[in-house]
Formats: sequence, structure tokens, C-alpha cells
Amino acid sequence: MRGTHHSTAVVTDRAAAPVPFFALAEDWRASERACREAIAEVLASGRYVLGACGARLERALATYLGAAHVLGTASGTDALVLALRAAGIGRGDDVVVPAFSFVASASAVLLVGANPVFADVVPGEWTLDPDDVARVATPTTRAIIGVDLYGLPADWPALRRVAASLGAVMVEDAAQAFGARVARSAAGTLADYGCLSFYPTKILGAAGDAGAIVVSDAAAADAVRALRNHGASTRMHHDRLGLNSRLDEVQAAVLGARLPYVDAHVTRRRAIAARYSAGLAAFRLGLPAEPDARTHAWNLYTVDCRSETRRDALAAGLRARGIGCDVYYPKPVHRQPLFAYRGAPLPVSEGAARTLLSLPIYPSLDDASVDASSRRSRSCRERSRVARRRASGPRAARPCLARRRPSPRARAHRRIRARRAIPTASVRGAARCGRRRAGCGVSALFRPRALRRAAAP
Ligand SMILES: Cc1ncc(COP(=O)(O)O)c(C=O)c1O
Repeated sequence: MRGTHHSTAVVTDRAAAPVPFFALAEDWRASERACREAIAEVLASGRYVLGACGARLERALATYLGAAHVLGTASGTDALVLALRAAGIGRGDDVVVPAFSFVASASAVLLVGANPVFADVVPGEWTLDPDDVARVATPTTRAIIGVDLYGLPADWPALRRVAASLGAVMVEDAAQAFGARVARSAAGTLADYGCLSFYPTKILGAAGDAGAIVVSDAAAADAVRALRNHGASTRMHHDRLGLNSRLDEVQAAVLGARLPYVDAHVTRRRAIAARYSAGLAAFRLGLPAEPDARTHAWNLYTVDCRSETRRDALAAGLRARGIGCDVYYPKPVHRQPLFAYRGAPLPVSEGAARTLLSLPIYPSLDDASVDASSRRSRSCRERSRVARRRASGPRAARPCLARRRPSPRARAHRRIRARRAIPTASVRGAARCGRRRAGCGVSALFRPRALRRAAAP
């Protein structure tokens, strides 16, 4: 398909090649052999659930993240549900969630019987706004779920301060941020519970659904271990209502084989993001940033087109030229019918859903394709700017053109008036005298007789 990661060769030859939004099969190439071998080992072992491979992966993830405990789950959504359940959140509890995220960040709250309370996000960062959390918090707020959206960690120091003042449990939805950091701490370890997703399009992707919970507290780890396996604290002893949410051995094998590639993949994603930002810098797009000490993992590279019309025009233009792009997310979570939200508008989230557009970013995307995406984004923006100017009509366009370059007639008019000190009114009057149907004064100036008369004392 498209060459190697770091090729910068012959951009012009590649300019017309389609650039898909994801290229999962291509991204798998590097780890394919290791994955096949690990899967074969599992198949030969005869142990397919909660076996040695899963245990090995949990230890490897804990080492990678610098965490005390990591527990595999069947998905990222289950990780959120299990974290809330382990924290004792349920009926009658309020949980603050960002209004701009994937639906699972909030639907997990409904799944444990609690009530999601939506807060707005920080403009430009698109992660939970700590000030807005303080605004919407209620006396029954028991937990806060922050989301490291697109791969950028939320402002965890500020969120932790708000949570401490409320006595609330912190849950980090790090589904999109594996490999991200705040200073030296890995995403997933920044709250009481960290929830990871290994959905195939994530930074560390499985060959199906998978997730994990990260905790530092041994009692919390025991609770999650029981809850993910039908609430069994020991074999066949069920003291809590649990789920079947175990990470299966085949997915664990795949993830274990792919984990050694994650740092190289995040490095490549970071290089792509930097290249996009350089290529798009001169355009009036809001570019994603990395504030403070936060290190982005770039699961998505998302630009702010600043208007819905411009966003939709850019998306249509890119797709027409074979460049994949997508909207994450076209409807803010609180506006999903599921939540029947009746609170005040949450303007940043609502605006983000109208104006954000994600461009292709993945490890196998080569520089030529990144440049092609930037170039085509720029030309689409330019075209839509010209189209907008045209659509605004001739009345608006003419004065602008006239200001730039006066017509020959206007120049002549000015020259003659300046030379002979003819006031405009008398020129017009002279023109009318000289020829009844002369029209305007400028036309009249091209008639020497009228000029002579007007200039006479
Ligand atoms: C922010 C966020 N939270 C939660 C999830 C749920 O993860 P999963 O699909 O593994 O259930 C996702 C997955 O897309 C996500 O992006």
C-alpha cells in the first residue's frame, strides 16, 4: 500500500493516492509474526480464559504504566462499569462526566444505576473543565469521570483538587490515551481508577474487544478481580453481583505481542501530529495543542474548523479527493436521546460537535500521505473561502476589488479632477449639459466638449 513510515520520497507521485482514515491491517504488519506465534501458543495451551497469557499481560502492562495493579476486562466500557461498581457507585449517586466524549464514558454511569451529571469541556483541549465540574457538582456527587480525549490527558491536577473538595472518587477514562503522560505519570494512572480500551483502533489495539482497569489500591484490585468474574472472591463463592468481563487469552496474546511496539507507534503518531501542525499552521484552523506538562498520545488528530459549514465543506472536499476524515463526535453526549438531558446548554461541547474534524493518524501513515492530507485540507479551505466570498454577492465583492485597483475610468476621473480642480458636481452638470443621456459624470469626462465647458470660467 503506502511505503514505509519515514519515507518522504516523491510527494508529487503520491499526491493522488487515497489516504484511508484507518489502516489497521497495515499497522499490524510489524507485530504480525509475534502475534501469530503468541496466538498459536495459547491455542496449544488449552487454557483460553484467565490463564498464564492474561496474567503475563497484566504484569507487563503494570510495568509499562508504572502501576501497582492492572486487571484485564472484556472491553473499555466494562472497565468503566467495573471501576464504578468497585468504588461502590450505584443508585442515588451523581457522577460528573464530560458532555463531549464517546457515549460509553456516560452510559457506564447509567449501567451502574447512577445519574450522569454533565459538565462542559475546556475549549481547544476538549477535556473535562475542572471549573465546570465545581459548578455542576451536587451534594450527592460521588464520582468524577475525566476523559483523556483524543489522547490528551485531562487537567488531572486540577480535577483531583475538585474531587478532593467534593470527597468524590476519580475515574480516568484513558481509552484513547495509552502511551500519553502527565509529567512522568502514565495516562491510566492519574486517578483512583484508570480505564483502558484495546478496541482495534486504539493506540494499543487488540484483534477484537478488550480493556483493562488500573489501580494502585490492593483492595480495589481484589474487588475488580471478583466483579469481572461473576463476583466470585474465591472459586465458586459469589459474594457480590458481578459480570462476565474477563479478557480472553487470545486477545491477551495479541496485546502482549504488540505492547513492545507501542512506544515506536506513539513516537510515529507524535511525528505525524507535528507534521500536520506545521503544514496547517498558516490556515485559520484551530490546531490541537499539548498544554502544560501533558504528553499527547495522538489517538486522533482533530482540528477545529470554527464553523459547521466550513467543517462539512472541508470533510466533503477531503473525501472527494480520497482523504479519509471523520467527526468525533457529531453529537455531544448530553444531547443523545438516551440521556434526556434538560439542563442548561453546555456551549463548548455543543460547539465542538459542530466544528471539529479528525484527520488520518496512525503508525503506518507515511509522510507523503500526511503532506497530501495537509495540502488537500489547505486547498479545500482556500476553495471554500473563495466560494464564500463569491456567494456573498457582487455588491460585497465590488467595493473590495475597486479598492484594490480602480478602473481606468475612475483613474482618469481622478486625474482630470486633480489637474483642473473640477468639483464633481460641476463635472456632472457639465456632462448633463453637453449630452442629455450622458449618464454619470465619469462617462461625461470622456467627452472632451463637456470637459471644455466645465473647465470654462
Ligand atoms: C473515550 C472512550 N471511552 C470508552 C470507550 C469504550 O471502550 P470499548 O469500545 O473498548 O468498550 C471508548 C471506545 O471507543 C472511548 O473512546
